Amino acid sequence: MSLSEEQAAALSAETVVVAAGRPPRARDEPVNPPLVLSSTYFGTGPLGDGDRGYGRYSNPTWDPFEEALGQLEGAGLPGLLYASGLAAVSSALSLVPAGGVLVMPSHSYAGSLVMATELAEKGFLELRTVDIADTDAVLAQLAPADGHPASMLWLESPTNPMLGVADIRALTAAAHDAGAVVVTDNTFSTPLVQQPLALGSDVVLHSVTKYLSGHSDVVLGALVTSNAGLRAALLHHRTIHGGIAGPFEAWLALRGLRTLALRVERSQASAAVLAERLSTHPRVGSIRFPGLPSDPGHERAKSQMKGFGSVLCIEMAPVVGASGSLSGADAADRMIRALKLWLPATSLGGVESLIERRRRHTAEPVSVPDNLVRLSVGIENVEDLWADLEQALASLGR
Ligand SMILES: Cc1ncc(COP(=O)(O)O)c(C=O)c1O
Repeated sequence: MSLSEEQAAALSAETVVVAAGRPPRARDEPVNPPLVLSSTYFGTGPLGDGDRGYGRYSNPTWDPFEEALGQLEGAGLPGLLYASGLAAVSSALSLVPAGGVLVMPSHSYAGSLVMATELAEKGFLELRTVDIADTDAVLAQLAPADGHPASMLWLESPTNPMLGVADIRALTAAAHDAGAVVVTDNTFSTPLVQQPLALGSDVVLHSVTKYLSGHSDVVLGALVTSNAGLRAALLHHRTIHGGIAGPFEAWLALRGLRTLALRVERSQASAAVLAERLSTHPRVGSIRFPGLPSDPGHERAKSQMKGFGSVLCIEMAPVVGASGSLSGADAADRMIRALKLWLPATSLGGVESLIERRRRHTAEPVSVPDNLVRLSVGIENVEDLWADLEQALASLGR
């Protein structure tokens, strides 16, 4: 590939997203890597196979993205692509030994929580959920005086959708003292905003579906680690359990990655503007966004993130008016229906702004308030986004 580990380390991340994973700089080489759809490879080795063997073991179209992501996370090793973020979660959880203890944020992404809960119900592991922003509570679960120490600490920071911020440095150090492996879901931040390996994590997880691919037209996941032993175990799991990426999706994800820095810069700036304005709107009961100085996670986020991401959550206030009353959840649903530009859809991290009331999903923990609305800010003009929100909020009446 055109960018060595040394070159990548010397460049800024904004350049690495553009320059990493390109074919060699040689006469008539394409500037972009080709899309390879073959499921098998011409065998020349002693056993009839070369290095690639078969399409479930490896694919040349995965390589540039895996290399670029490894360089962006500062791993020194290529990442591993998966069929989805949850396929990556499944592979990461395979590192918990049978009967081992998994400590997980009580407000992790709902799919990760469902998977861990089901594994615990089958007796494969012991699950301890905890408020990840409460460092003392996490420490107590990692190494309880009268219980088994943890085998794995799962971090998600900020959490989806409550936007709780974990003290990644302190928690990874304590987890390592307890003998646990640390996995950090970095989907909300991307490597441009937060680098969990540098903060002490062993494995970084991404739903590539979100910011990394960035156009809401791909479902993919990834893991990254700088530990060769862990990488080999994860690669083996991917090969044997089969959660591999489709080559076309991998190719699209690399294309999306090229604009990551611009997209993140724009959407973070817009999120900060919208958060500020929403925080004083009478129809908004409360707001969660680590970029606001009043947010409980603000100082911690500042110490470990470059920016604050572009997801924010509001809790809608109930409406009490002459023409009738609405609960906060009903006000949220009505406001969302009145929007003309924001798209009422799940997911986040795409160029388009998305909005949803999270508890409409039955898997969402009941501790997520039913009037909580998650906004994923895209790259549209911020004043157009604000005008649409303002008219939808105004439609609820004075
Ligand atoms: C933080 C987080 N992690 C993991 C996932 C799962 O990713 P995927 O939908 O690509 O399987 C999601 C999806 O919303 C997510 O938000």
